[in-house]
Amino acid sequence: MNNKKIWFITGASRGMGVDFAKAALAAGHAVVASARDSKAVSKAVGQSNDLLAVKLDVTSRADSEAAARAAVDRFGRIDVLVNNAAGFYAGYFEELSSAAGLVGFEFCSAYAASKFGLEGWMESLHPEVAPFGITTTIVNPGFFRTELLTEQSTQYAEPSIKDYDERREKQLEFWKAQNGQQSGDPAKLARALIIIASQEPPPRRFIAGADAMAIAEQKVADLKAQIDANRDLATSLDFDHVGRAGSGS
Ligand SMILES: NC(=O)c1ccc[n+]([C@@H]2O[C@H](COP(=O)([O-])OP(=O)(O)OC[C@H]3O[C@@H](n4cnc5c(N)ncnc54)[C@H](OP(=O)(O)O)[C@@H]3O)[C@@H](O)[C@H]2O)c1
Repeated sequence: MNNKKIWFITGASRGMGVDFAKAALAAGHAVVASARDSKAVSKAVGQSNDLLAVKLDVTSRADSEAAARAAVDRFGRIDVLVNNAAGFYAGYFEELSSAAGLVGFEFCSAYAASKFGLEGWMESLHPEVAPFGITTTIVNPGFFRTELLTEQSTQYAEPSIKDYDERREKQLEFWKAQNGQQSGDPAKLARALIIIASQEPPPRRFIAGADAMAIAEQKVADLKAQIDANRDLATSLDFDHVGRAGSGS
């Protein structure tokens, strides 16, 4: 394959990371599949000369450096990095002992905060690395049937504030019922990633899933309404005698 790329995927022990690795291999690419337990990768993805399984807990800088070094030692470079690994820390913010990228949801304050943070990082990284020929793509998946809502990946805040009792119960019921019922097929998402990664240039954002598309369109409409509601006030905040740069006024 002459357009063979080297993919580096985090969180490739379970869930959609496994589908991404399989789809990239099936498309003829080489894959560095990383996981907290590298043995889990081989179990989930299988064996291939084009596959390197490496240990990487994404919270460990030492792991990250060693995994990137191993990837470059084996394949010479990394072309596509899929920053996929995550868990779901759910609950009302006040009940989380510490502390979804495009839209925030009730019961998802910590998860959404982390995803919004990643998006701000990615959007800023884009112009920073563009001169080096590196592009970034934000992927906003809707509900995909992975292991994210299992006990292994989801941690619910310990109930501690009575005011939330009734709503918490409904939220827990909703999220637990979603497990295994999500409409999105992660194998199809994986094939879609292969397609967008080969586009020139790749998209800056990919909204993945009909449900995610509806949520994104609602967000755009809400944002537009919020802009329009206070347009005159918002655009009247410059100093009264602002001159154009260089005009001297
Ligand atoms: N599924 C959805 O509906 C959905 C929707 C929107 C966004 N997403 C996002 O899609 C990504 C993948 O989620 P998924 O649905 O595939 O979930 P999943 O089935 O629970 O898989 C999560 C993967 O992340 C790994 N992981 C968690 N913490 C890690 C860490 N500190 N270091 C390295 N690996 C770690 C897990 O590894 P272990 O086996 O070691 O635990 C596992 O391989 C996540 O970023 C998630 O937020 C998912």
